[in-house]
Amino acid sequence: MNMEKTIDESKQGEHLVIEQKEGNTRKLFIESYGCAMNFSDSEIVASILSEQGFNTTQNLEDADLVLVNTCSIRDKAEQTVRKRLEKYNAVKRINPKMKVGVLGCMAERLKTKFLEEEKIVDLVVGPDAYKDLPNLLAEVDEGRDAINVILSKEETYGDIAPVRLNTNGVTAFVSITRGCDNMCTFCVVPFTRGRERSRDPQSIIGEVNDLWNKGYKEITLLGQNVDSYLWYGGGLKKDFIKATEMQKATAVHFAQLLELCAKAQPKMRIRFSTSNPQDLTLDVIEMMAKYDNICKHIHLPVQSGSNRILKAMNRLHTREEYFELIDNIKRILPNSAISQDLIAGFPTETEQDHQDTLSLMEYVKYNFGYMFTYSERPGTMAERKMEDDVPEDVKKRRLAEIVQLQREHSEIKTKAYLNTTVEVLIERESKKSNEQWSGRTSQNIVAVFPKEHYKIGDLVNVKVTDCTSATLIGEATGYSKDN
Ligand code: SAH
Ligand code: F3S
Repeated sequence: MNMEKTIDESKQGEHLVIEQKEGNTRKLFIESYGCAMNFSDSEIVASILSEQGFNTTQNLEDADLVLVNTCSIRDKAEQTVRKRLEKYNAVKRINPKMKVGVLGCMAERLKTKFLEEEKIVDLVVGPDAYKDLPNLLAEVDEGRDAINVILSKEETYGDIAPVRLNTNGVTAFVSITRGCDNMCTFCVVPFTRGRERSRDPQSIIGEVNDLWNKGYKEITLLGQNVDSYLWYGGGLKKDFIKATEMQKATAVHFAQLLELCAKAQPKMRIRFSTSNPQDLTLDVIEMMAKYDNICKHIHLPVQSGSNRILKAMNRLHTREEYFELIDNIKRILPNSAISQDLIAGFPTETEQDHQDTLSLMEYVKYNFGYMFTYSERPGTMAERKMEDDVPEDVKKRRLAEIVQLQREHSEIKTKAYLNTTVEVLIERESKKSNEQWSGRTSQNIVAVFPKEHYKIGDLVNVKVTDCTSATLIGEATGYSKDN
């Protein structure tokens, strides 16, 4: 692709590099909500549309086409998108030629209902249909609404080189699997993103090499359930049983993919997210130990500490099995960080179940986490078979207790780094001071320190002199040996 790198003037302080294609005249405003996968998908969409004459703009008022990549994971996420549509509506009154499209999980969940409910929407495109955008846009240009929400068995967008959006030029997402086969009873993702399939390792390595050559220093391999990665020549994970003996013998699993990435670019930092406890195998943990450039952080959502609730959620492991996994991680990777996702107030959750969650947290002592109250999602097993019976105020109180305990644990964990030296990749200016850099350690802990002569993309050693519950504060003592 004939991409020219330009720095967006308004964002220069933030060092945002925007890739634009020469000769493109139409303007695309694209924004993303929800998980990292949505942000990554938007980069694929921007790439497809750059071939259709669109360059991105940061300015909504300028746009010929506005796309919003949406999230359905909780009701609140959907409400946020509805509010944005109101904003677009106001802009469209001034610029009636502007077209509005909805992408992602809400598009897939609501389908034609979107066109009926939101008059402003011209275009609805589900997560597997982005390659159809040129055809859909042609319809929209002729004045008709257009929709494609067909889910795919093969689509991984492995052949599309993403246009990096709002990038710091240092860290990037690389998508490796799409969809999810797990059917956790609370979760809408299997319905909106379809069945699980993995991307060709060669195209993944190609993207990693390309990113390194463009100056990127860290990638995050993305999937709903990365440990379940399995390449056997294409197709759905569930069809692997039908694979030939040859395909089975040459299949690539996640630990092997990690090794391929770590070896392809020995100085590139490799992260991955998300790990599902039932699929995180010992060989992945051992592979993390084997390569310095694989970051020592595991995001390991548990959702609940109660065996009864885990079962009702269709999480396919027990509390005891989770502890065993945690013990293995701590043994094989003593310097690693572990983070969680937790849900408070799943249907039928009792005070005892909630206490089980708190005691699980005490056992693990997570470095950080993402915590939510249960939000009933239409069409999920929990919505169909269970009553959303924990009162909102009880959900909120339990969540507050979980958040408070996490804060205490985060503080214990960050304090343990005081007076040690950590290796930090500089990503951006600190939000609090333009005289400080902000970056992350291998363990995914944020560190800030005076800029001195260092620059974005440098890997530096930082002596930790102070901390808050989530952030390390220190001073650089020099470049890392791996810089
Ligand atoms: N694939 C990931 C998580 C996907 S969704 C995994 O393996 O767990 C991200 C997080 O959102 C989940 O881990 C869960 O904690 C939360 N979440 C999902 N559905 C939810 C719901 N209905 N209500 C509240 N939180 C939810
Ligand atoms: Fe959702 Fe469970 Fe998959 S949380 S994304 S169904 S692993």
